[in-house]
Amino acid sequence: MPQLKSKTVYLCSACGNDHPKWHGQCPSCNEWGTLGEFKVSKKRKKGSGGLARDSRKLTDILQGDEVKRIPTGIAEMDRVLGGGLLPGSLILLGGNPGIGKSTLALQILPAFTKQVLYVSAEESEEQIGLRARRLNVNSDSLHLSSENRIEGILDQVSLIQPELVVIDSIQTVFSDALDSLPGSVSQIRECGQQLLQLAKQRNIAVMIIGHVTKEGVIAGPKMLEHMVDIVLYIEGDDRHDHRILRSAKNRFGTSNEVGIFQMESNGLIEVKNPSELFLAERRDDISGSTIFPSLEGSRPILVEVQALVSNANFGTPQRNVNGFDFKRLAMLLAVLEKRLGTHMGTKDVFVNLVGGLKVDDPAADLAVITAVASSARDKLLPKSVILIGEVGLGGEVRSVSRLEARINEAKSLGFKTVIAPTANVKRMKKSPKGIKISGVTNVGEAFHLLF
Ligand SMILES: Nc1ncnc2c1ncn2[C@@H]1O[C@H](COP(=O)(O)OP(=O)(O)O)[C@@H](O)[C@H]1O
Ligand SMILES: [Mg+2]
Repeated sequence: MPQLKSKTVYLCSACGNDHPKWHGQCPSCNEWGTLGEFKVSKKRKKGSGGLARDSRKLTDILQGDEVKRIPTGIAEMDRVLGGGLLPGSLILLGGNPGIGKSTLALQILPAFTKQVLYVSAEESEEQIGLRARRLNVNSDSLHLSSENRIEGILDQVSLIQPELVVIDSIQTVFSDALDSLPGSVSQIRECGQQLLQLAKQRNIAVMIIGHVTKEGVIAGPKMLEHMVDIVLYIEGDDRHDHRILRSAKNRFGTSNEVGIFQMESNGLIEVKNPSELFLAERRDDISGSTIFPSLEGSRPILVEVQALVSNANFGTPQRNVNGFDFKRLAMLLAVLEKRLGTHMGTKDVFVNLVGGLKVDDPAADLAVITAVASSARDKLLPKSVILIGEVGLGGEVRSVSRLEARINEAKSLGFKTVIAPTANVKRMKKSPKGIKISGVTNVGEAFHLLF
């Protein structure tokens, strides 16, 4: 067998760039200790030149037909994609093992009328077949393959001419041209590049499934996320059946849009009214519970904030938070102590956003601080109240985005009272009927109305 000539490059595991020499600090992204040695075959460069692509006039492009999005048949998926799959787009779908990536990818396939290729190097064709049967997925145009060489996958694409290719997962495919193992930075980068070319040159949609690391980001070079058009994550945990599909990046639609699903034995089922799901088991006869309309992408979803404050019995008081920013909670506790005279220094504080939703919207501040105060003072809050507002260091309540959409969602679920920033309330064009809106300028005013 002829020996391939290879050269050594140093690849950064943080940014994915390569360098001819080793450095302690990556010259591209300035991270320390991230360069590793890789052998790259020189053969790869041969013939990769080819003809340069011509440029096109914008007017010619505008005169052509508008590219049609292909609906996936799953409304929640289409919402997150921005209205369906665009031909020529590259999509990255990430999530923890077992969260439902393969399930979701398989479920969208029957919607495609032309050929579709599902490449799974993780499972055999029979295993995918079994899952397809369980999910009731059947389609004449669906081709399954367990090929894991990128060159082989490209050959199959030429043969089948699909309009969608799914790669499950990028960590298991590799290129013959590189000596490194599948899943390594250089392999992911190379295969990602080839799939990008495939999508753009053939104008087909390519969906890449990727595993996530412990930190919750897609394993492999960050560059993969820069390369693709859309980055989707499936979130959720083992304790809950619902799954949240979120777009972290979308070149063709709003990012941070979410779709809510329920994992059942026949696959991921869409949840039409997420607020109802998140509030289903709520008890309104205990202190420390408030409701906040979170804005997830363009859609408001009502979530329950629960707080529990108790005496710290062992040394340093504990602060524990789920679904909300830890530092933000510390700030709110300081505001509670300093501006509202509720002593928190010797208390354990637990805050939980029910249902596993993660909220980084500052508009949740008022609901969080009120839940904590309600538990600390052990006072029940009036039923059917919604709290919205960002809290500043002075205890002032600041305005939030899209108050009306949030109020409408609360109203549709039968809530009767809203406490919101005065500045927002004054700006509202017309106040919705059937719901009372009270404007407040600081946290003290809100507490005065509630306790
Ligand atoms: N026979 C089954 N009946 C019901 N649910 C199943 C069955 N097999 C797998 N599942 C569900 O599907 C999930 C696996 O989904 P999958 O799409 O393979 O995840 P991923 O591809 O993200 O690793 C499991 O966590 C489980 O909840
Ligand atoms: Mg899988």
